Formats: sequence, structure tokens, C-alpha cells
Amino acid sequence: MTVLTQPTQQPTTTYLKDYQVPDYLIKTTDLRFEITDGETLVSSMLHLYRNPAASSPATQLTLQGADLELVSIAIDGRLLETTDYAFGEESLTVFNTPEEFSLITITRIKPETNTSLEGLYKSRTMYCTQCEAEGFRKITYYLDRPDVMSEFTTTVVADKKYPVLLSNGNLIAQGDVGENRHYATWHDPFKKPAYLFALVAGDLAHIEDSFITCSGRKVALKIFVEPKDLDKCDHAMTSLKHSMRWDEEVYGREYDLDIFMIVAVDDFNMGAMENKGLNIFNTSCVLAKPETTTDAGFQRVEGVVAHEYFHNWSGNRVTCRDWFQLSLKEGFTVYRDSEFSADMGSRTVKRVEDVSLLRTLQFAEDAGPMAHPIRPESYIEISNFYTMTIYEKGAEVIRMLANLLGKENFRKGTDLYFDRHDGQAVTTEDFVAALADASGRDLTQFKRWYSQAGTPRLHITDSYDESTQEYSLTIKQTCPPTPECQHKLPFHIPIAMGLLGSAGDLPLVLKGAEPDFETSDNTHRVLELTQAEQTFVFEHVQEKPVPSLLRGFSAPVKSTFDYSRADLAILMSRDSDGFNRWEASQQLGLHIINDVIAQFQVDQHLTSVSIDPSLVNAYRQVLRDESLDKAMVAYMLTLPTEAYMTELADVVDVEAIHYSRAAVRSHIAHELRAEFLAIYHDYDHQQAYAATADAIAARSLKNVALGYLMLLNDDAVIRSCEQQYRTANNMTDVIAALTQLVNAQAPLAQTLAVTALADFYEHWQHESLVVNQWLSVQATCVLPHTLQKVQALQQHPAYDGKNPNKIRALISSFCNGNAINFHANAGEGYRFLADQIIVLNAQNPQIASRLLTPLTKWKKYPPARQVLMKGELQRIMAEPKLSKDVFEVVSKSLV
Ligand code: PHE
Ligand code: ZN
Repeated sequence: MTVLTQPTQQPTTTYLKDYQVPDYLIKTTDLRFEITDGETLVSSMLHLYRNPAASSPATQLTLQGADLELVSIAIDGRLLETTDYAFGEESLTVFNTPEEFSLITITRIKPETNTSLEGLYKSRTMYCTQCEAEGFRKITYYLDRPDVMSEFTTTVVADKKYPVLLSNGNLIAQGDVGENRHYATWHDPFKKPAYLFALVAGDLAHIEDSFITCSGRKVALKIFVEPKDLDKCDHAMTSLKHSMRWDEEVYGREYDLDIFMIVAVDDFNMGAMENKGLNIFNTSCVLAKPETTTDAGFQRVEGVVAHEYFHNWSGNRVTCRDWFQLSLKEGFTVYRDSEFSADMGSRTVKRVEDVSLLRTLQFAEDAGPMAHPIRPESYIEISNFYTMTIYEKGAEVIRMLANLLGKENFRKGTDLYFDRHDGQAVTTEDFVAALADASGRDLTQFKRWYSQAGTPRLHITDSYDESTQEYSLTIKQTCPPTPECQHKLPFHIPIAMGLLGSAGDLPLVLKGAEPDFETSDNTHRVLELTQAEQTFVFEHVQEKPVPSLLRGFSAPVKSTFDYSRADLAILMSRDSDGFNRWEASQQLGLHIINDVIAQFQVDQHLTSVSIDPSLVNAYRQVLRDESLDKAMVAYMLTLPTEAYMTELADVVDVEAIHYSRAAVRSHIAHELRAEFLAIYHDYDHQQAYAATADAIAARSLKNVALGYLMLLNDDAVIRSCEQQYRTANNMTDVIAALTQLVNAQAPLAQTLAVTALADFYEHWQHESLVVNQWLSVQATCVLPHTLQKVQALQQHPAYDGKNPNKIRALISSFCNGNAINFHANAGEGYRFLADQIIVLNAQNPQIASRLLTPLTKWKKYPPARQVLMKGELQRIMAEPKLSKDVFEVVSKSLV
């Protein structure tokens, strides 16, 4: 046996341009897992054959493998000598391989000590797997790449204390093995890449239902959980059935196996995983019931169940050629699940939520050291590329395509895509080609969205000529440099728009263009910007209009147009586009907060601020508007978040943002006290809980009102809040009240908060997901000394430093959701985070790497903070055994 490569210090980079087809393909994969306490033996029989598409016939075979102990290896029944093969760093090369052969390997793995939560691992009482992206290599030696698709048969053998044994596909055999052990054999008739493999063994309970597909086939639906969670599965089951119907109706996609299973796992690095026929979910994305789950939690379950289900076509039946194509399945599937959620609830509300997420987290990523195009050109560790950019910006790119093509042509395009590539591993180019072919549209320039990173800027100006009645909009586009590209070519940008006159939307007569027949009244159209600068002229415009631009956020860009405060108030109250009404409320909010920031920067000890009345007047209008959905009222009355303001700033002044925003909030609370009291008291606090869009909307408006009222330091309000905490019949209202008590400065509130926190834990200590909410509420407290409390909570019995959900609830909530405390002046927040990352680096590299994000943004802060943040990155960099995951993010951040 020889060692091919020495373990290197510098991890290597993988490039898209180096892609080559695999030398060998795997016709069938037969696996047998012998699970025993402490170790699992994996026997694998692969039927391999040379890939006819490979450039030259291969005579050796390199398989990937990591943390495996090879017990034996045989070709066509002949055991190999140690000279027949060699180990690389994470690979095994077999020499002199024939055209076609069977390879049998036996490997030993240790799921019980696998803390990375990748490969086969143990979560509490059950064994489970996570193979995307490159986790299958931690199970056995394999061609662990998505363009190798094989037919899997899997036998799981375990002690009978694990009664449930699952894998992908259909159950084809089961029985006893001796007295105490048993087995189950599963066969998946659909060829799939190894990343979609899954296995579960545990003592699980399940609920069962069925679904009749559009062609009349009956599919069994099962959700497996630990027995204590059996009462929290109904919402996921309902969401699943809705998703299955929706995908038939909207995309013509029918489910293909006879059984669809979901398993809930407590220790999971991500939200959920779309393994063929056997989705594995983080408990946080599948379990829900009113007493333990907030409205946001219910909506998340619905969205994630749909997302994973939709992957059955967008990801599994048609998969990715290589991991650079990740957005092919993720961007498209996020677009699909967001449209599903829009159809299930309120479309405008869903759009506001998605855009908020995109503009804070994805725009920040696109402006930082890890910026990458939705189809990256290189990576060190692919796990680092499950990003906001791949998912959320990827979805925005699909949304633009859907809007450019129109409903009918987009559907023709996706039909052609699924039909043409069923059973294949393909690229984003293939996807766009199918849309172009089906619609006849030239998408050449549009494809720059796939290769250029960064958020494009639109600078929009207008002019109106009363004498000719012409109104023109001039739009300039630029895009800042990002690590992979300094000079960007112009993007193809759809700009949905309308013009507001004094009596409503004006008809649009665009010079040199056909009327837009998609809208009957001709008051809305999509301008297509393709040049660096373009002017659009509208004729017969009888008065100077207020333009409503980028309706529905028709492109993921930052746009500036010099609106007056009066213009914004008009858009807020009258725009026919609901999204832009909200957007105007945000812009007006920014104007007002920025006024205060300017005063704050002159005098840090500001005792009284002067605040322009335009915002409160506009809020009053919103409150009187009967046509608005209550959820929209709630969002329109919420100021831009600190996170959004942070993203917008060139140099972030943490204190100015925090205290100025708080000052404006307090001003609003005083001015609109009567209105907020009316909302709060008119709400029927005794009504039965429902997770419907209307009920969620009413709760969110009532809780926004409570949030403002709590700024009044009024004992009566504080007592109402505490009463809501004690008597609410649902977790949304309980958590809202608890959050308000914890963050209120008044001594009465503080006293009640201490009691409520203790009571909450006492009551919910056996519900892990509820305890996570309790941790988050404390970690995001804006009052002083929160870091010490977070550190104390790490020692609390409720905390588990190996469980990703606990880490997210406590550490990540503090570092990402509590700017004023995380950025404390002496840098103790930064030091704390770096300490956590150093521990997690060895334990769970994926989580360690994700946790790094706030430190990577160091260049946006003033010099003193930069030094402290950078110092912590350097301290991490100096650690002896950095994982590829952490190495990539830290090294790129220090450039
Ligand atoms: N593919 C999963 C999804 O988006 C995400 C995931 C990636 C889960 C990697 C686990 C590991 O649906
Ligand atoms: Zn996905």
C-alpha cells in the first residue's frame, strides 16, 4: 500500500473550469449496514463500468472516502492485495481496473462519535444520515459526485431496540436475524446520486395518511418522530398534501414512488434534506402545535416541507452535474416554495418577508469577502456555499425569468426542462436553454446573472415636460467589484413600474413600444434595462407623476430615486402595488431615522430629538385604511430593521443606528398611543388559535401595537403584557409578551421578566424547541450585561453545545441579532464568538464556519472595531488544525 499524497497544510481549491466527466459509472449500488453499539460495518457492492463519454479509457479507479476504516476490498470476488490499491488524503485508488467489474468493500465507521453530523451519525436515540453535499464518503468508498447516478438497494440490520429501519424507495424484504436483531431491505427504482441516499434506524412513532395523485395512484405518507413528538406532526402532514397537489396543478409534477416519508431529527446542521422518498428534517422545521410553536414556526414548517417535497423533481429527478450548479436545484426550489407559500397565504406579505431577508442577509453577503455568483467558479469547501446567494438570490433570478417569459411560456419552459432532462445531472445552462427554447426568447445577456456576483445599483432620475406632456425616466446601472470580477458587464434587468397621478394610476404610453397587453388597463409595465444607461419616455402624461418603480421588487438590485417625503407618503397610501406601499414606508422610516442619526452624531448624549411629523401622519393614514391586510399594516408600521440599516451603511455606527431607531420608535409610541391602545384592546384575546393567514395577521398587528405601547413605561401596559404572557393560548403571543418584558427598561417590567423567564423554563423544560425560544429571547435582550447572561446560559442544563439548534438559539442569536451588545466596545463579543468557533472547528466544522459570518463583515466598521474583529479572525487563523470550512471563510475574510 502506498500513500499517494501527503496531507497538505493548504486546502486545495476546486474550479468549475476543471470539470471532467467521471471515468467510471456505477450501474447498481448494494449496501448492507450492520449497526451495533459503538460501530457500524458497511458492506458495499458496486457494479462499475467505464464511462463511454470519458475522453480516454481509464485503467484505475479513484473513490472518495473520509474517516473510514477499510476492512476488505475485492474485485469480481478476488480479495485485493495491499499493492493493488493506495490511499490518498480522502480517497482510495484501485489500480488496473477492467472495463466492467464488481467492487466489494467492507468498511467500519463510528456513528456514535461522529459530531460533524455528516455521514451516518447518532442523534439522541436514533441513527440517521446526512449526505449532501459530500457526506456519503464518510459512509463508504464511492464516486461521491452528483453526476454519478446509480440504482440503490439497501439493507439495514440492527438490534430490535431500533424497531424502525428505513431507507430510500420501497420496502422489499424484512425479517429477523437471530433472536435480538432484525433487518429491512429497501430498493429505490430511481437512479440517484449518493448525496440523496438516506438511512434511519430508531425507536420512532409515526402518523400516517395517504394522497391520491392526479393519475389516481395512492401514495402512503408517513412522518416519523420520537414518540413524545407525535402530537406535533399534523401541520407538516397537511402542508405535505397541499404541496403535492400544488406541484401537480402549477408545474404538472406528480409524485413517483408509492411511499413518501419524513423523519424528524433533533441534531441537524441545516433545515431539512430532500433524500429520495425519505426526507430528513430538523425537528424545528417539521414539528408544530399552537402551544409550542409560533406563527413564524408554523409558516416555516409549511415552507420547508414544500421545499423538500418540490426537490423530488427540481433536484432529484433532474439533479446537478456538479456542485457549482447548486443553485440549479436550490434557487429554483426556493422560487417554487415561495410561490407555494404565496398561494397558501398572502402574496404581498410573503414578498415583503422574502425581500427583507434578501436585502439584509444576501445583499450583505454580496458586499462581503465571501461574495460569489449564483454559479460560483471555485470553492475550497462546498458546504460553505449553501448560502443566501445560492438560495435566495438564485430564487430571485428564477423569478425574473418567470416574469420576463410570462406565466404560460415559463410553464412551457419548465415542462421542457423536466422532460428533456429527466434522470440526468445537468447545469444551469441547460435550465436556461430549456426556457429559451420553449419561449423563443434570447436569454444570452440575462445569463450574466449566473456569472457576475454583487448587487447591481440603479440610479434613476426623471424629468417632466409640461408642454410636450412627456415624462422620462433615465436609469443607470452599475455593479461594484466582487472578489471574482472587477468590471461587470450590464445586466438584463426587468423593472416593473407604474406612474401615479393625482387620481390614481396613469395609463402608460411608452414611446417606441407596443402597449403591454398583460395588463388590461395599461397602467403597469415591465421596462427591460439592458444598457449601462437607458432613457424611457412616456407620452401623453397629463401631470407630473410619482413613479412607482421596481414593483414587487422585480429585480434584486439597490435602486435610488430622489423621492420627497410627500412622494413617499403618496406611494404609501395609494400605490396599487402592495409591495411598493410597504417599500415607501421603509424609505420614509429611513429618512426620519437618518434625521435623528444626524443629530446623534453631533451630540451623543442627545436628550431631546426633533422628529419630522411626516412619518406619524403617514402611519395614521395606514391605520385608517380599511383596504389593507392587517399583516401589511403590521409591516408598514415597523421601522426598517437595524440589520437592514447596517447593510445600507457605508461605515456602520452601531450606537447611532440603535439609539436613533429607538428614539423614533418611542416618538411613534407617544404620538399614536390611542391608536395602539385601541388595537390592543379591540383584539379578542380569548379566541381559539388558528394558523390561518388572517389570524396570523391579526396577532402580528396586535403584537406590533404592544411593542410600541411597552415603550411608554406605563404600569398598566406592563401589566397587560404580563397578563398576555400568563394567559395566552398560543406560543406566538406568549413569546411576544415575554420578549417585551425582557427588553423593557422599567423596573416593574424587569421584575416581571425575571419571574416570567423562570416560570417559562419551569413549564417548558421538556420541550427542546420551546427551550430554544427561551434561549433566543434572552440572547437578543438589548439591555446591558447580556453577554454575561449568554455565558451563564451555556452552563445551564438546558444548553447543549453539540446541538446546532441550541447553538443557533443562543450563540448565533446573540452575535447576529443583538448588534448593540455583540459590538460592545472592548471587543468582548468578538472574543466570545471566536472562542466558540475554535471549539466548534474540531467538533462540527459546518456550524463553526456558519457562525463566522458576523466577523467576516469587519471592513464595514470604524477603525477601532475593525482592529478588534480582525484580531479575532487572526487568532482563529493561527489555530493548528483548521477545518477546510473555517479555513476558507477566515482566509478569504482576511484578504
Ligand atoms: N438540500 C437541502 C435543502 O435545501 C439543504 C441541505 C444542504 C441540508 C446540506 C443538509 C446539508 O433543502
Ligand atoms: Zn433545497
